[in-house]
This record gives sequence, structure tokens and C-alpha cells, in this order.
Amino acid sequence: MRSPSQKLFALVAGVFVAAVAMSPARAVGPEGAAAASASIAPGPSASASASASGSASENPAAWGPQGRVLPPAMDATNSCVACHITLTDQKLRAPAKEFLTSVHSDDRIGCAGCHHGDPRDPTVGAHKAVGFDPHPTHAEVPDMCAACHSNASFMRTINSRLPIGEPELYRLSLHGKLTAAGDDQAPNCATCHGKHDILGPSSPKSPVNRANIATLCSGCHSDGKRMAKYGLRTDQFSRWEKSVHGKAFKTGNPKAPTCIGCHGAHAATPPEASSVGHACGRCHEEELAYFEMGPHSKGFRKRGLAECVACHSNHDVQPASSLMVGTTADATCMKCHSKDDKPRKIADELADLLRGARGRAAEARAMLARAREDGLHIAGAPYALDQIATAELKLRGVVHTLDPARLQAPVAAVDKAVDEAKRLVDDAARTRRLERHGYYAALGISCVLFLSLALKSFQLDRRRRDRS
Ligand code: HEC
Ligand code: HEC
Ligand code: HEC
Ligand code: HEC
Ligand code: HEC
Ligand code: HEC
Ligand code: HEC
Ligand code: HEC
Ligand code: HEC
Repeated sequence: MRSPSQKLFALVAGVFVAAVAMSPARAVGPEGAAAASASIAPGPSASASASASGSASENPAAWGPQGRVLPPAMDATNSCVACHITLTDQKLRAPAKEFLTSVHSDDRIGCAGCHHGDPRDPTVGAHKAVGFDPHPTHAEVPDMCAACHSNASFMRTINSRLPIGEPELYRLSLHGKLTAAGDDQAPNCATCHGKHDILGPSSPKSPVNRANIATLCSGCHSDGKRMAKYGLRTDQFSRWEKSVHGKAFKTGNPKAPTCIGCHGAHAATPPEASSVGHACGRCHEEELAYFEMGPHSKGFRKRGLAECVACHSNHDVQPASSLMVGTTADATCMKCHSKDDKPRKIADELADLLRGARGRAAEARAMLARAREDGLHIAGAPYALDQIATAELKLRGVVHTLDPARLQAPVAAVDKAVDEAKRLVDDAARTRRLERHGYYAALGISCVLFLSLALKSFQLDRRRRDRS
């Protein structure tokens, strides 16, 4: 247990330590840009050098790429923008105007966040600070952005929800490697995001907004002149546009992949043959799982064939129903197995199972449609159709195992749904027959009643006339 005097001593000591810790910022001097800049100096070593030199303008670390810390909010100013917005030269003014509506328009980031210089100095002396970088080269831009975007602790203080892995991914990509090697035909961060008008991907005006991505990528990748020296084909966009994916994108399906759905935004490399399945499997999990159960998973890997793409293609993926399992000349299997006995036999078995189940499903659908045309009311019809469709979908997934035995269960599921649909139609037809019988019976009874009434009134009439 501490005595009261010990507690008092601890309190006094604490206050003393806090006062000492705050002193360097004050020690620099009471007024001027230098004092304010010193307080934004990052980390203890940098602030030591700042107070030693007495001027943050001479302190390269203050806005340097390493150890960036935030200036206190009340100190953050951006005299760069204040001056540049008044300049008449469009080249000097436009950046300031664009910057003010960009995602970086925060005095804690400021112009100096990218260009360095001294943001407190309201004169052109601002450019004099060590580290001022008015014209980063194409290859230097990624480092400029990475100074913040790879710095988790800095980013967290402004927006804790932003991911910070982009620069690392980008560096691993072919885009990043070519850029680092000095090729200015490959995109750097600013090519895709802009320089002064950068917005988040959720903004419709951003070039990286989902609606604009295919246009952004194809701006280079469909440009024959630009791509000639790399020997890359330039038809990715035109093929994607006509694929199931491109069409689904156009009709607003939020899950349909644009270019980055398969390539990623920052690691834009073509998926390697062995990882294509995982690129597709992000969305087609079930097909991937079934594919991996089958003999192709290992067989393709051994031969360096691109998993899903070997059958479905990459950019012009078409509806799978046009892919044919079997041994006819245009069946996909025959691309590789025209002479292999076992695969041919299995292809035929699979085709028979598929054809059989589909035939029965089609019949059931036609029956339901006819019943509707005949005016039969079947309350369960939409549900029955749904059940058939679900069972068929399952069947198409299981095809990827290439195992006829595994197909038995989903075929049975299709048949069960088909039987259920038929039962509904039969029930409805029987109900109608019963209703018709009831109607004729009622009509018959009414006729008999009517006739007997008519007879009775005729008899009464006759009797009255006889009496008179
Ligand atoms: C008092 C006004 C003023 C301030 C403050 C100012 N600038 Fe400038 N800036 C200019 C003028 C004028 C030019 C063009 C002449 C020159 O290069 O000095 C210029 C040029 C530039 C250029 C382009 C250089 C080139 O060669 O094309 C960049 C980049 C720039 N400033 C960034 C900044 C940044 C970053 C800050 C803040 C740290 C800043 N400026 C502060 C007036 C200012
Ligand atoms: C997100 C980083 C970033 C920010 C923030 C930023 N710039 Fe730039 N700025 C760049 C890049 C990248 C270039 C391109 C360098 C080049 O191509 O020469 C550039 C170029 C310029 C140029 C030269 C324009 C030209 O056409 O040659 C000026 C002037 C300029 N910036 C001023 C500013 C001013 C003023 C601010 C603040 C209002 C600012 N910048 C904020 C990244 C940035
Ligand atoms: C080839 C074009 C391209 C290049 C190069 C590129 N990006 Fe991106 N970036 C994108 C696209 C597209 C998105 C949108 C991703 C999405 O919507 O999922 C994006 C998203 C982002 C985001 C927002 C992430 C989020 O989830 O909100 C940041 C931050 C970012 N990029 C930073 C960078 C940096 C830093 C670099 C350079 C090291 C860079 N980008 C290079 C295309 C690019
Ligand atoms: C001085 C630090 C700094 C530098 C340098 C910097 N950024 Fe940023 N950037 C940020 C911060 C902080 C945010 C988050 C702003 C917010 O959400 O208020 C941000 C946001 C973004 C976003 C929007 C992300 C989203 O989902 O909203 C993109 C895109 C982006 N930056 C790209 C770049 C690119 C490209 C460069 C280089 C040309 C760059 N940044 C340079 C600090 C920086
Ligand atoms: C500024 C032009 C430009 C933009 C924009 C661009 N790319 Fe590229 N891309 C290139 C160049 C150049 C290469 C290198 C070609 C090579 O060496 O094979 C490349 C390579 C690629 C590759 C690797 C091809 C291979 O042969 O390995 C893929 C995949 C790719 N880009 C996808 C994309 C995607 C997705 C986007 C949009 C998010 C995009 N690119 C935006 C210029 C661009
Ligand atoms: C459904 C997934 C998917 C989509 C969407 C997609 N790609 Fe690809 N892309 C691939 C795969 C997989 C490869 C690898 C080729 C291979 O191994 O067969 C590839 C290869 C490439 C290549 C290398 C050259 C080539 O043609 O083989 C480029 C460049 C490319 N894609 C750009 C794009 C662009 C631009 C878009 C958007 C218009 C896009 N991709 C959309 C899956 C896709
Ligand atoms: C050996 C050729 C082949 C390979 C390899 C292959 N598929 Fe298929 N895929 C087919 C066939 C055949 C069908 C069914 C066609 C039909 O409806 O009769 C199909 C159907 C599909 C369907 C539509 C059916 C559904 O469940 O919605 C998707 C999606 C699909 N495949 C994705 C993939 C993915 C992802 C991969 C890689 C993991 C892949 N496929 C690998 C041949 C292949
Ligand atoms: C970002 C998610 C996503 C990725 C990645 C993706 N797809 Fe798709 N795919 C979809 C969506 C959504 C549809 C449904 C389109 C529709 O029916 O409107 C679809 C449809 C399909 C179909 C047609 C299914 C049918 O009913 O006939 C095939 C085949 C297919 N994709 C194969 C692939 C292959 C192969 C890859 C990888 C090269 C791939 N997909 C990557 C989302 C994706
Ligand atoms: C892109 C070429 C390609 C296509 C298309 C293809 N296969 Fe294969 N298939 C292979 C390879 C490679 C192997 C592995 C052979 C090996 O390892 O000896 C294989 C193996 C098989 C096996 C296992 C054979 C065994 O001996 O166990 C069967 C069964 C099979 N395929 C059926 C099919 C069917 C059915 C289709 C059509 C839906 C099809 N394949 C489409 C390339 C293909």
C-alpha cells in the first residue's frame, strides 16, 4: 500500500514527465511557419532533428515517405491550395480546383501529402523545403501513393475502413513490374485513378467505379497500337461484352464479373492455369468443388491445361447449355478425347443421363403450360417449376465430377420434382372432372325440377279450367 505522500509524489512526477514530453514542440519558437511545421514532425528522431535545425523546411522527414504522422487537426493547413487556386495559369490552377472535390481534400493530406514542400509557408518559399517533388516520374508515382496507402497506422487515423494492400499487390502485377522497369505504357496508380481528381470507387465519376472499369481497362487493352509491342491480343473487351458475364453485367446483375472480377484490380495478371479455377470459383463455388472431385483436376494440372477455361473459355464464356457432353463431333469432350475409349464411354453415359432427365423435365414443363392454357388452376405450379429448375441446376453442377454414379442422385431429384408436377396436373384435372360431373348432375336435377314444376302448373291449370 502506498502512503498519501507517495501518491502525491507520483502525481507530481507524472505531471513533470508530461510537461517534458510536450516541450519540443514549444521549444522551437513562438511564431511562424517553422513552429507550426515542427509540431507535425513525425516520430521522436525527426522531431529531434527539427528542433536541432529549428526549421521544418529543412527537415526532409516531416513530409517524407517514412514514418508519416498526422499533424494535429487544428494545425493542419494547406497554403499550397490557397495560393494555387488564385493563379491564372490553368496548368497551375486546375490541380487545386480538382483537388478540392477529391477524396484527398483534407488538410491533413493536402498537396504536400504527395508533392511535399512546406504547406504552412504562404509564399513560393513553400517549394523550397527539402523533398519538394513537383514532377514525380511515371515510375515514382506508386511510391508516392504507397507512402500513405501502405502505412496502416497513418491511414487508420483518417479512414479506418480503407484497405491498405493495394501498393503491394500492384507491385507484384505485370503492370507494376513494367512500371518499375520504366515502361510508361503500363499503368501506374495515377493512370487508373487520376492525380488531383481522385475519388473512391463508389463514386460514379471515378474511372474505377464498377460501371467504368471495362472502359478503363480496354482503353489500353483494345488499343492495337499500344499493345503491338507486347504481342497481346486486343479482343478481351469485345469478347467479354458478348459473354454471359458481359450480358449479365449490362442487365445490372451485381454479381457479374467485369475485368477485375477475374483479374483483381491491382494484381492484374492472367490467372495461371492452375489458379483459373479459383478465379472462377470465387463465384462458382459448387462447380469448382465438383470439378476438384473429378479426374480432370489432376489431369489438367499435370498437362498445364487451364481448369475451367479449357471448356468454357475465358472472355467469351457462353451459356453452358450450348456446351455439349457426349461424343458427337461438336461436343466439348471431343476437343480432347476423340480417341480415348474410357472418356468416350463416360461421355456417352453422362450425355444419356442428362438427356433423359432434361427430356422428362421438359415434358413436365410442357404439361404445366398446357394445363394453364386449358384454364386449369394449379396453385402449386410456380413452386413445382422452381423445384424442377433447382434439380436441373444441381445436375449441371455435378456433371463436373464426370462420374455417372454421382449423377444418379440429382437425376432422381429431377424425376421426383417431375412426378410432383405431374401429380399436381392430374389432381387439378380430376378436380375439374369432378366439378364438371357435379355441374351436369346439378343441371339434370334442375331440369327435372323445372319440368315437374311445369307439369304441376299445367295440371293445376287444366283442373281449374275443367272446374269452370
Ligand atoms: C504563393 C503561392 C504559392 C504557394 C503557397 C505554393 N505554390 Fe506551387 N507554384 C506557385 C507558382 C507561381 C508556380 C509556378 C512557378 C514556379 O514553379 O515557381 C508553382 C508551381 C508549382 C508546381 C509545378 C512546378 C512545375 O514546374 O510545373 C507544383 C507541383 C507546385 N507548385 C506545388 C505546390 C505545393 C505542393 C505547395 C505547398 C507545399 C505549393 N505549390 C505552394 C505558387 C505557389
Ligand atoms: C494524390 C497525389 C497528389 C496530390 C494530393 C496533389 N498532386 Fe499534384 N501531381 C500529382 C502527380 C502524380 C502529378 C504528375 C506529375 C507529372 O506528370 O509531372 C502532379 C502534377 C502537378 C502539377 C504539374 C501539372 C502539370 O500539368 O505539369 C501541379 C502544378 C500540381 N501537381 C499541383 C498540385 C497542387 C497545387 C496540389 C494541391 C491542391 C496537388 N498538386 C496535389 C499528384 C498529386
Ligand atoms: C489498372 C488500374 C489500376 C491501377 C494501376 C491501380 N488501381 Fe487502385 N483500383 C483500381 C480499381 C479498378 C479499383 C476498384 C476496386 C473495386 O471496386 O473493388 C481500385 C481501388 C483502389 C482503392 C480503393 C480500395 C477500396 O476498397 O476502397 C485504393 C485505395 C487504390 N485502388 C489505390 C491504388 C494505389 C495506391 C495504386 C498504385 C500502387 C493503385 N490503386 C493502382 C484500379 C487500379
Ligand atoms: C498523404 C497521404 C496520401 C497519399 C500520398 C495518397 N493518398 Fe490516397 N488516400 C489517403 C487517405 C487518408 C484516404 C482516405 C480519405 C478519406 O476517406 O477521407 C485516401 C483515399 C484514396 C482513395 C479512395 C478510396 C476509397 O475507397 O474511398 C483512392 C482511390 C486513393 N486514395 C488513391 C491514391 C492514389 C492513386 C495516390 C497516389 C497518386 C494516393 N492515393 C496518394 C491518403 C493518401
Ligand atoms: C495504361 C494502359 C493500361 C491499362 C489502363 C490497363 N492495362 Fe493491363 N496491361 C498493360 C500493359 C502495357 C501490359 C503488359 C503487356 C505484356 O507485357 O504482356 C498489361 C498487362 C495486363 C495483363 C497481363 C497480360 C499478360 O500477358 O500477362 C492483364 C491480365 C491486364 N493487363 C489486365 C488489365 C486490367 C484488368 C485492367 C483494368 C483494371 C488493365 N489491365 C488496365 C496496359 C494497361
Ligand atoms: C470470367 C473471367 C474473366 C473476365 C471477366 C476477364 N478476364 Fe481476362 N483473362 C481471364 C483468364 C482466365 C485469362 C488467362 C487466359 C488463359 O489462361 O486462357 C485472361 C487473360 C487476359 C489477358 C492476357 C491476354 C489474353 O487475352 O489471354 C488480358 C490482357 C486480359 N485477360 C484482360 C481482360 C480485360 C481487359 C477484361 C475486361 C474487358 C477481362 N480480361 C475480363 C479471365 C477473365
Ligand atoms: C470438361 C469440360 C468442363 C470443365 C473443365 C468445366 N466445365 Fe463447367 N460445364 C461443363 C459442362 C458440360 C456443363 C453443363 C452443360 C449442360 O448444361 O449440359 C457445364 C456447366 C457449367 C456451369 C453452368 C451450370 C451451373 O451450375 O450453373 C457453370 C457456371 C460452370 N460450368 C462453371 C465451371 C467452372 C467454374 C469450372 C472450373 C472449376 C468448370 N465449369 C469446368 C463443362 C466443363
Ligand atoms: C464475380 C463473379 C463471377 C466470376 C469471377 C465468374 N463468373 Fe461465371 N457467372 C457469374 C454470374 C453472375 C453468372 C450468371 C449470368 C446470368 O445467368 O445472367 C455467370 C454465368 C456463368 C456461366 C453460364 C451459366 C449458365 O447458366 O449457363 C458459365 C459457364 C460461367 N459463368 C463460367 C465462368 C468461368 C469459366 C469463370 C472463370 C474464367 C467465371 N464464370 C467467373 C459470375 C461470375
Ligand atoms: C481440354 C481437354 C479436355 C477436355 C475438353 C475434356 N477432357 Fe477429359 N481429360 C483430359 C485430360 C488431360 C485427362 C487426364 C488424362 C490422364 O491423366 O491420363 C482427362 C481425363 C478424363 C477422364 C478420366 C479418364 C481415366 O482414365 O480415368 C474422363 C472420364 C474424362 N476425361 C471425361 C471427359 C468428358 C466427359 C469430357 C466432356 C465433358 C471431357 N473429358 C473433356 C482432357 C480433357
